Amino acid sequence: MYLKAIALTQFKNYTGGTFEFSPSLNFLTGENGSGKTNVLDAIHYLALGKSYFHAVDQLAIQHGTNFFRVAGSFCKGSEDIKLACVYQSAGKKELAINGTVYLKLMDHVGLIPVVIIAPDDHSIIDEGSEERRRFIDNTISQIDHQYLENLVSYNKVLQQRNAALKQFAYRKTFDSTLIDSLNIPLISYGKMIFEKRTYFLKAMVPLIIKYYSIISGRKETVTAVYHSIFQRKDFLEALTASLEKDLQLERTTEGTHRDEFDFSMNDVPVKKFGSQGQKKCFLLALKLAQRELIANENNVTPIVLLDDLLDKLDEKRALRILELVSAADFGQVFITGTKTSLIKDFIATAENDLRCYSINAGMVLNNGRIQIADTFEN
Ligand SMILES: Nc1ncnc2c1ncn2[C@@H]1O[C@H](COP(=O)(O)OP(=O)(O)OP(=O)(O)O)[C@@H](O)[C@H]1O
Ligand SMILES: [Mg+2]
Repeated sequence: MYLKAIALTQFKNYTGGTFEFSPSLNFLTGENGSGKTNVLDAIHYLALGKSYFHAVDQLAIQHGTNFFRVAGSFCKGSEDIKLACVYQSAGKKELAINGTVYLKLMDHVGLIPVVIIAPDDHSIIDEGSEERRRFIDNTISQIDHQYLENLVSYNKVLQQRNAALKQFAYRKTFDSTLIDSLNIPLISYGKMIFEKRTYFLKAMVPLIIKYYSIISGRKETVTAVYHSIFQRKDFLEALTASLEKDLQLERTTEGTHRDEFDFSMNDVPVKKFGSQGQKKCFLLALKLAQRELIANENNVTPIVLLDDLLDKLDEKRALRILELVSAADFGQVFITGTKTSLIKDFIATAENDLRCYSINAGMVLNNGRIQIADTFEN
């Protein structure tokens, strides 16, 4: 599957225009602030109906205007898929497939799988467990539709339970029937989430190990371990035992929303003891594992978006990544960055027939139109 072309209207710094893409490597160059990352985010909008970089859609509307539209044409086997995402100022976001608007955005997730690696992603390793849960949830959601539905339902019940706990504190009351009735769906959705997380993490670990070794060329033993309340206790027992605490803190303190994923290297946490380089490699291994897992389980190769990645790696590692992503079966890749000469040299010496479009995002700004600045084929 690949993206053939994209049309942007009042999307961030793009007033209007169209990009055409190669089914394999696409290299987006241009000065800082020229709009390279914005193109990747537009692709992310089409794939998942939202930005990768901000939660507020309003931020994507070009300043001084009141809506944005991103339209893309995808090729999936023999099928042509046309997607359009429109957001009106303070209004509703709509995603349409071949002219038909989705009733629920959620129904689209997984159809156009995408894996993105962006500069701030180190937070998956460095920050709290919420970032790691988000990464795992994003991965499974693109494979398993039921999982995403369960996750949304779980979060809804969790919010209701937390609201009830707040009300009890405010009114100095307690309603055990209400809590019991919320515990039932919390437990059943939570259990399904737990089972899927267990299954998919198990499938992902060997891929993380494989990619870590390919990228780093080193021998550290890496792994990812899942910790959940369901491994320690019966969930109902845990909810009952923590009720006193929940009432005090006015929130639910046990559940799959507190699950942890620990990434370790030679049996110590990467977060605490990994060097900058080791963390970078681990993150890349995670994302490449995510890509392969989605490809294996979904039978569709995800589109890979690498934002500024090569600029952040030393030349040896950058070349290793280029080799990986340019393999014939890797699928479509978008790379933003400024290392034009490295890419050109790589393509000139590559053994397979690479098609790489170099798109100068900066030119778009200069003349208000989007165009392919330079196409080089091997
Ligand atoms: N809603 C918006 N309306 C207009 N311009 C915007 C909007 N949001 C972002 N921009 C502009 O987009 C530009 C940033 O684009 P982007 O992040 O894609 O650049 P980049 O080419 O990736 O730069 P770098 O090389 O620094 O990563 C900035 O100039 C910013 O002002
Ligand atoms: Mg950028």
